[in-house]
Amino acid sequence: MRQLLDEAAKGGYGVGAFNVNNMEQIQSIMEAARETKSPVIVQASRGARAYSQDRFLYHLMIAATEIYPEIPLVLHLDHGNSPETCKSAIDMGFTSVMMDGSLMADGKTPSSFEYNVKVTREVVEMAHDKGVTVEGEIGCLGGIEDGHGAGGDGLSHLTDPEQAIAFVEQTGVDALAIAIGTSHGAYKFSSKPTGETLKMDTLIAIHKRLPDTHLVMHGSSSVPKDLQDVINQYGGKLKPTWGVPVEEIQLGIKNGVRKINVDTDNRLAITGAIRKVFMEKPEEFDPRSYMKPARDAMKKVVAQRMTQFGQAGHAGDYKPIPLDEMRAFYQGMLASV
Ligand code: 13P
Repeated sequence: MRQLLDEAAKGGYGVGAFNVNNMEQIQSIMEAARETKSPVIVQASRGARAYSQDRFLYHLMIAATEIYPEIPLVLHLDHGNSPETCKSAIDMGFTSVMMDGSLMADGKTPSSFEYNVKVTREVVEMAHDKGVTVEGEIGCLGGIEDGHGAGGDGLSHLTDPEQAIAFVEQTGVDALAIAIGTSHGAYKFSSKPTGETLKMDTLIAIHKRLPDTHLVMHGSSSVPKDLQDVINQYGGKLKPTWGVPVEEIQLGIKNGVRKINVDTDNRLAITGAIRKVFMEKPEEFDPRSYMKPARDAMKKVVAQRMTQFGQAGHAGDYKPIPLDEMRAFYQGMLASV
C-alpha cells in the first residue's frame, strides 16, 4: 500500500478503500476498477475475517489478482485491535495493516497516547520487516463498525495536530487516520452537513506539518439519499440521515488525504437491490436473482467513488513492487535516520 499511496500523492489523487466480506463484494470492486482503470485497496475488518474465514478471503484475493492482472491490488486489515491481530493478518498475506491503538484491545475504550505509540511502534517494526505497510490512528472516530469503535458522534475525540506530529515521529507509520468529525455507519449527521461540520482546518493543519504522511479519512460514506430511498421504498426503515459530502472528501484529497474508507454506501446499495427483487418478485428463490443486481449496484457506487476520488485512469501508472523490495526500502529508510 505504501507504493500505491506514494503514487497517489505524486498524482494528487485519493484512493477508496472498500470493505469486503464475501466474493460478490470483491467482484464488484474489481469490475469497477477494470471499468475505470483504477488501482484498488480492498480492506477487511476482524469481523469480515471471521465471517469470510481467512482462507476463503485469501484465495478470493488471489483469484482477483489472476483475473485482473492489470490492476494494482492491496489487501489491507481495517482496525486491527492488537499487534497479535496484525501479525495474523501479515502471516495470512495482507500487504497492509491498520493498528488502531487509539482504542484498547477491546476495540471500544479510548487509550492513552503512550499505549497507542507503544503498540503501533511494535507493529511498524514487525510489518516493515516484511515489507508490509502500516496505518495508525490518532484521535478516535465516532460510531461503531463491526463491533469496533468508541461510539458517540464524530466530534467526541478529535485529533490534536501536535499529538499527530509526535505520534508519526515516534511510530514511523506510513499512513495516519485522523478524527475530524466523521463516524462509521449510516447515522453520521442528523442534518445536512455544512462546510463547518467537519474539522477541515485540523486536517489542513496536520497536512502542513506532516506533508509526507499519507492521511486517511475513515467513515467517509456519503450515505446518498437515492440509496436510502430504494431501501425505504422496498420495505426498509432507515431514519433520515446524512453522510460526508463528496466535495469535503475532495477538499481533503487536495490536502494530503490519500486513502478514503467506504463501507456503508456499498452496504446500502446491496441491501436496496436485494429488497427490490424480494418485493417485486416474491416468487424468486434463486440467490443469483438478487445477488447479481446487488453486485451491479455496489459496482456502480464503487466506480462512481473511484472517479470522484481521482484514482480512475491510474491503474497502469506503475508496476507493484514485491514485498521483499519494500522490505529493502524500509531498511534503507531506517539506515538514513
Ligand atoms: P463508512 O461507515 O462511512 O462507510 O466508513 C467505513 C470505514 O471507515 C471503515 O473503516
